[in-house]
Amino acid sequence: MLKAVILIGGPQKGTRFRPLSLDIPKPLFPIAGLPLVQHLIEACVANEGLSEILLIGFYPSAQIQPFANEMQQIYNVTIKYLQEFTALGTAGGLYHFRDQIRFGNPEGFFLMNGDVCSDFPLKELYEFHKQKKALVTIMGTEATRHQSLNYGCIVTNRETNEMTHYVEKPSSYVSTLINCGVYVCSPDIFHTIGAVNNELQERYRNGYMNGTREAGYIQLEQEILAPLAGTGQIFVLPVVNWWSQIKSAGSAIYANRHYLQLYKTKFPERLARSKGQGETCTIYPDVHVDPTAVIHPSAVLGPNVSVGPGATVGAGTRLKESIVLRDASIDDRSLVMHSIIGRGSHVGRWTRVEGTPSDPDPNKPFTKMENPPLFNKDGRLNPSITIVGCSVSVPSETILLNSIVLPNKELSRSIKNEIIL
Ligand code: GDD
Ligand code: GTP
Repeated sequence: MLKAVILIGGPQKGTRFRPLSLDIPKPLFPIAGLPLVQHLIEACVANEGLSEILLIGFYPSAQIQPFANEMQQIYNVTIKYLQEFTALGTAGGLYHFRDQIRFGNPEGFFLMNGDVCSDFPLKELYEFHKQKKALVTIMGTEATRHQSLNYGCIVTNRETNEMTHYVEKPSSYVSTLINCGVYVCSPDIFHTIGAVNNELQERYRNGYMNGTREAGYIQLEQEILAPLAGTGQIFVLPVVNWWSQIKSAGSAIYANRHYLQLYKTKFPERLARSKGQGETCTIYPDVHVDPTAVIHPSAVLGPNVSVGPGATVGAGTRLKESIVLRDASIDDRSLVMHSIIGRGSHVGRWTRVEGTPSDPDPNKPFTKMENPPLFNKDGRLNPSITIVGCSVSVPSETILLNSIVLPNKELSRSIKNEIIL
């Protein structure tokens, strides 16, 4: 029997994803029509013998439990939300809920950061883990020298794939092989975490922690994985599959494109078909349109567009490289490009909503998405996609360029390179 644990964090995490995560927890933000973590759940349930998925986080239960119930219904696998009383770090929650994870004696479990996306090669990862008789197996991928500093960096023995050295977000170059935040763990990992926890508790009791962190807070990367390096128990499977973190809003557009691409082979029924093939409007693949959305026959959608439930798109309107969320409406002859239109927002007619594309550099191999903070060092807004928060009204005949509009605003003029608070 196999299980999966997905770390979904909580309200204080994912700050770079605001304002998109102001009205919906980041793990539930829809990408290619499905909540971000549903893609992870789908990858997990595709493994034979997987019987339970545990979502661990510190969001209030009311925000995640209904979603967990819905997922359980859809996939017919036990899916539970386990709420940490406070942020316990990437291994603290895991340890706190160890009895639930070990219940039923699983042979092992997948452990995934809830904010990554990929065509997860979980089967290969598990086979590799069994073959190596590993305590932990990490999915690794190649990054550029410069970008590797934003991730966990791994050094391995090239022949055996054993991890010999690990540094989390190093300040200078260590390795271009990075941690994807996707692991297979054997249940014995709890002995290792237990020993670390005892040591931390001892230090905590003796006042060494100085109130800097909660008792029970444990960092998986620094306190568990790094010390395991070179012990013969931890291995890395380097993969070339598509993989990305979702940190900034721009990475949602990037992930949207790749999940839509994956639908071509895995779930073609989720993609909108072009005119003449049963669809009423012009589609440049890949596009996902919820069946309850209303699109005018003269609208032109794509590539890389997702339109949520109940949304409406008017006559002659053009959508490209964008996500339109539930119940948003875009009136006639407007253009939306490199943007996200929030839930229930309204864009008038003859309006142009445009952002700056923020894809990884296609000319540099292994480049990942940059996830810069909202402002640069001079205090200026970094160019990014345009984000229209939920329930915003953008008037007709205006231009909204490279801007972020917080929820519930009624704009009255054109806006360029601004954050509207
Ligand atoms: N339940 C819970 N509790 N989840 C948490 C907590 C916590 O206290 N803290 C973080 N998480 C979740 C986040 O929601 C996210 O899904 C994941 O754990 C990792 O989050 P971060 O701590 O923000 O780390 P990171 O994303 O910057 O880096 C991690 O992921 C990279 C790959 O995406 C590290 O594991 C890196 O080594 C790795 O390269
Ligand atoms: P999370 O999104 O949950 O990680 O929270 P956060 O936005 O507060 O970010 P985190 O604590 O992970 O990182 C702190 C800061 O590091 C960010 O605000 C960025 O300034 C910087 N940073 C982290 N990752 C990247 C990256 O991939 N690229 C760039 N340019 N900066 C990064």
